[in-house]
Amino acid sequence: MTSTLKNPIFCALDTTDLERARALVKAVSAHVGGFKIGTEFFGAYGPDGVCDVVGDAAFFLDLKFHDIPNTVAGAVRAGCALRPTMMDVHAAGGLAMMAAARDAAAEESEKLGVTRPWIIAVTVLTSLDQANLDSIGVQGKVEDQVLRLAALAKKAGLDGIVCSPQEIGRIRNELGPDFKLVVPGVRPSGTATGDQKRTMTPPDAFDLGADVLVIGRPITAAPDSAAAAKAIAESLNARAA
Ligand code: C5P
Repeated sequence: MTSTLKNPIFCALDTTDLERARALVKAVSAHVGGFKIGTEFFGAYGPDGVCDVVGDAAFFLDLKFHDIPNTVAGAVRAGCALRPTMMDVHAAGGLAMMAAARDAAAEESEKLGVTRPWIIAVTVLTSLDQANLDSIGVQGKVEDQVLRLAALAKKAGLDGIVCSPQEIGRIRNELGPDFKLVVPGVRPSGTATGDQKRTMTPPDAFDLGADVLVIGRPITAAPDSAAAAKAIAESLNARAA
């Protein structure tokens, strides 16, 4: 499986420090395929901050929309103006909500004359374990719920899902080669796992079929972020060669 992106590494800019975000982008741009902007940065600096920091780079607008279909469609339309490579919604919002997000992305991108962003779904947050799912009334195993929501996302016409490295194999098997798998929880060997519990190295996750590797602290918390990003990119190139 090969990614459709030239460089599958998307560096997570999890910070509320604008100068730090700018410095990181400058340092690692040559070694990554794009960036991931989440609610932390977006909450602090909004759309203007996103444009300021990412410039022309590819980016994943990770705001995890979860609301009624009409509202999510509006949020997706607003997001399209920033020209992200991808945006996400919660699959638990249901089929109609995901379909509304997909349609809004297609219509708005056409209206703006920009490339349509991938709309991908978050299935079960990796911070939730079996006991957490039980407590919110979801029956069955976590991995079955992940599969159920991933299949629903595909049925709604979404481009793919966010999933943990451990889920790549089964989802790729069941949902086919064209469904995009965006994968956080990736750790080069020898780096700290932090709060990520189920990690995998970048080459292993890529070989299993990940399309995008979302990598934060192994790059952003490294003493030399540019060197860390370069080493990860080289580990992927070495694998592909
Ligand atoms: O620093 P680290 O490499 O763990 O960053 C991973 C990024 O991916 C963070 O922005 C985190 O919020 C995000 N993420 C995750 N697990 C998910 C979904 C998103 O780690 N299931």
